[in-house]
Amino acid sequence: MSNIDVLLGLQWGDEGKGKIVDVLTREYDIIARFQGGPNAGHTLEFEGIKHVLHTIPSGIFHHKATNLVGNGVVIDPVIFLKEINALKTIDDSAHHRLMISRKAHLILPTHRLLDAASETAKGKSKIGSTLKGIGPTYMDKTGRNGIRVGDIEQPYFQEKYRQLVEKHMQLLQNYNFDITPLADMEKEWMSAIDAFRSLTLVDSEQYLFNAMKDGKQILAEGAQGSLLDIDFGSYPFVTSSTTTAAGACTGLGVAPNKIKRVLGIFKAYCTRVGSGPFPTELFDETGEQLRKAGKEFGSTTGRSRRCGWLDLPALKYAVDINGVTELMMMKADVLDAFKSIKVCTGYRYHGEQIDYLPYATDPNYLEPIYEEREGWNCDLTNLSDWNDAPVALLKYVRFIEDYVGIPVTLVSVGPDRAQTLKISSAMNA
Ligand code: GDP
Ligand code: IMO
Ligand code: MG
Repeated sequence: MSNIDVLLGLQWGDEGKGKIVDVLTREYDIIARFQGGPNAGHTLEFEGIKHVLHTIPSGIFHHKATNLVGNGVVIDPVIFLKEINALKTIDDSAHHRLMISRKAHLILPTHRLLDAASETAKGKSKIGSTLKGIGPTYMDKTGRNGIRVGDIEQPYFQEKYRQLVEKHMQLLQNYNFDITPLADMEKEWMSAIDAFRSLTLVDSEQYLFNAMKDGKQILAEGAQGSLLDIDFGSYPFVTSSTTTAAGACTGLGVAPNKIKRVLGIFKAYCTRVGSGPFPTELFDETGEQLRKAGKEFGSTTGRSRRCGWLDLPALKYAVDINGVTELMMMKADVLDAFKSIKVCTGYRYHGEQIDYLPYATDPNYLEPIYEEREGWNCDLTNLSDWNDAPVALLKYVRFIEDYVGIPVTLVSVGPDRAQTLKISSAMNA
């Protein structure tokens, strides 16, 4: 019986999860997405190709791996089919390596309208949702009204669909929301559902259980980041799923004692897209420099990402919640031009100095305390051996390891698959 490894983001998403899943897929037989939906945008770059995946797991470009969309994921069939068609232009056989859980919930056109209506009604206090219908779909799931992938194979499907849409129409009416686009959206959705039936739909928890019995190597791929988790993120400015390691159990049907490695991905700095508290956010030239160097624009919505320094108490919090066993630091190269780099090591909170992330992260109460680190101030993008890493980078990594207490086993120095340095652990160096 094999175990399962989990890979997830430790910040507010976009840490570079897609790139690392792609890099690691060679070591696995199955890549299984466990939560989120098309709000995600996971970018892969190799051999001059740049590809963004939203719902499909990031192991799809490796011929030997099976890619599973787990029960914890919410699927918009229209976006899903577009993703498959985009894949076909690169690899005609990719969709044959794809399986979808019958227990995954479907995003309806009216979920998308409800997402937009809710955000409009919130006005200034909006979440900054990707408007993909994520919140309303998970609401219907927990409210026990949702429609699942398996329902499209059942004779009652159309009736169930109509009943749910009826409910949604009443809500939309309460919001006084314009539903003119709905007829076209529904047409596109129904034809996507027809095409969806020809995909491989499975009882995924059984499939994974048998795969583990057969000794298969499985990597669970997370979406979003720990600070966007419905319970532990900066609520209410979060997404509507469990983005932390526990989500791999519920989102795939895997028992907690089957999880072995927990790979935590973080950027060498911080970004956030959408609303909500961000203690180390920079509103100055430095923030702009990070955004430019890191090309920090959303993979799903194209929105400009908010940028700031690395926040170690927040990282430590995410590490603890997830039981991270290894850290992977992304986008080190983005800091190449910085002579000095600041790192948040604590906060001033109601006049006191603290080193943990408190309940209220409102910038009015929470002021980051920074330590200044020496920059490496050289080009990392061609670095191919960790032994040649500049001393200042080694020290930066070591500083993070010492603070968090977990080894860094990989440093990424560019978006391409090849720009990846595996290190035995700077902790032992
Ligand atoms: P994900 O959602 O966690 O998969 O991350 P995204 O794909 O949304 O955002 C990460 C962005 O950074 C993508 O554009 C990647 O191509 C890019 N990227 C990943 N790793 C690196 C790196 O080490 N250096 C640089 N410069 N870019 C990177
Ligand atoms: P990946 O997997 C970054 C953010 C949105 C918004 C909040 C709620 O690419 O890291 P939602 O559409 O889920 O209701 O939006 O969460 N958000 C992300 N931010 N990366 C993501 O995914 C995100 N998915 C959602 O910007 O603030
Ligand atoms: Mg992303």
